[in-house]
Amino acid sequence: MPDPDPATPAPAAPAGPRFLRRKPVERLLAESGHGGGGSLRRTLSMGQLTMISVGATLGTGIFVVLGEAVPEAGPAVTLSFVIAGLTALFSALSYAELAGTIPASGSSYTYTYATLGELVAWVCGLCLILEYGVSVAAVAVGWGEYLNELLDGTVGATLPDALSAPPGHGGVFNLPALLVVLSAMAFLLGGARESARANTVMVAVKIGALLLFCAVALTGVRAGNYTPFMPLGLAGVSAAGASLFFSYIGFDAASTAGEEAKNPQRDLPRAIMLSLLVVTALYVLVAAVAVGAVDWRRFEGSEAALAGVLRDVTGQDVWAVLLAAGAVVAIASVILAVLYGQTRILFAMSRDGLVPRVFSTVHPRTGTPRANTVIVAAFCGVLAAAVPLGQLADATSIGTLFAFGLVNVAVVVLRRTRPDMPRGFRVPLSPLLPLLGLGFCVYNMLNLPGVTWLVFGLWMAAGLVFYFLYGQRRSRLATETAKK
Ligand code: ALA
Repeated sequence: MPDPDPATPAPAAPAGPRFLRRKPVERLLAESGHGGGGSLRRTLSMGQLTMISVGATLGTGIFVVLGEAVPEAGPAVTLSFVIAGLTALFSALSYAELAGTIPASGSSYTYTYATLGELVAWVCGLCLILEYGVSVAAVAVGWGEYLNELLDGTVGATLPDALSAPPGHGGVFNLPALLVVLSAMAFLLGGARESARANTVMVAVKIGALLLFCAVALTGVRAGNYTPFMPLGLAGVSAAGASLFFSYIGFDAASTAGEEAKNPQRDLPRAIMLSLLVVTALYVLVAAVAVGAVDWRRFEGSEAALAGVLRDVTGQDVWAVLLAAGAVVAIASVILAVLYGQTRILFAMSRDGLVPRVFSTVHPRTGTPRANTVIVAAFCGVLAAAVPLGQLADATSIGTLFAFGLVNVAVVVLRRTRPDMPRGFRVPLSPLLPLLGLGFCVYNMLNLPGVTWLVFGLWMAAGLVFYFLYGQRRSRLATETAKK
């Protein structure tokens, strides 16, 4: 996504309570080159936007986290996917409305800055670091598990636990997870962009691998494996749904390409909804086949769960190896896309003065935010090397659910404060559906474990201290207002 020209003249900020100050929508549009400022090339079609969202979504959630959710929910893990999908659906509608109304950079951080004020935007930014930065780490850990599976199937050896598991889980540090993050960093530093075409190829590999899984595992499906359907009750289904929400994260990625969409008002809402439909259908299908082919109790403690199912069903390694190869490509592409997203969100926050300027310094030769990319990759790499996947995925989920909750509120607020703005898409039955979206987010958050809430609370507390010591004073809106 090209970065807007910070020098673009834009309407001034309104005066008001410091942390409630909002960034005027017209200013956001001007900064994003949408209101007569710097121009961006609008080349992406609806199909390509859909592929971007599917590309950023399909990854560790279905290839790995599914294996951790089955022991919680049993065969009813299919229902858990539907619950998580509904949470995503209502929030996706709200995302669609805001992405079509304010197609600027910064994602939900930007939407909340325009509607709910600077402090809430900052909180949203903190959540986005969990959604993007921490999820890079989580996805990298999942990648390592499939790499081991692939090595096992091809060269007959795996990396020792000491080098492929975090402390507390039999290892010293997770080397493959660190290496894949550093590789993605090298890619981004070189100024390389995922072209829409390369992205489409990767998406084809992912979907192909999952369809291959379904075709092969279907031969092992036995009706008896579906009973009892809900061995651990509704509580287990809900808890698994909260963890599986992770697998839907990324459908909003199309909105980060809003400034390059040919027709953002019309295409972004469609791309977001279509990608959600494709992904949900695939998830429910894969989950139903997986728990039908192998007794749910056998998922306990399994890594690279889908490859394990294929090995159990066929008794041969070849299918598991093929699936592992597909997963390695699939998951690596998510890392690249999400790492990119995190750097651009911090870029937007830095341009607004809320985080240090180093995050919005662009290298003159490559045109990329170099220091930003290195810092973000180092942060994600260390997390990936040292923390287990389940905890990372849950931290990602809680941050994302919070951010999505804010986006649902932002839709309702913008309808009231700016009813006049042209909207390419309107959430039907507003405020009912956005409030339902908010309710689903809260419900899923409440199902996450206490330790995740503790981590979330500490992260928010540290972030708020930083805001009051730094961001509130350095905010570009604040310094501009003070100069007047
Ligand atoms: N939804 C992404 C994944 O499952 C984060 O890998």
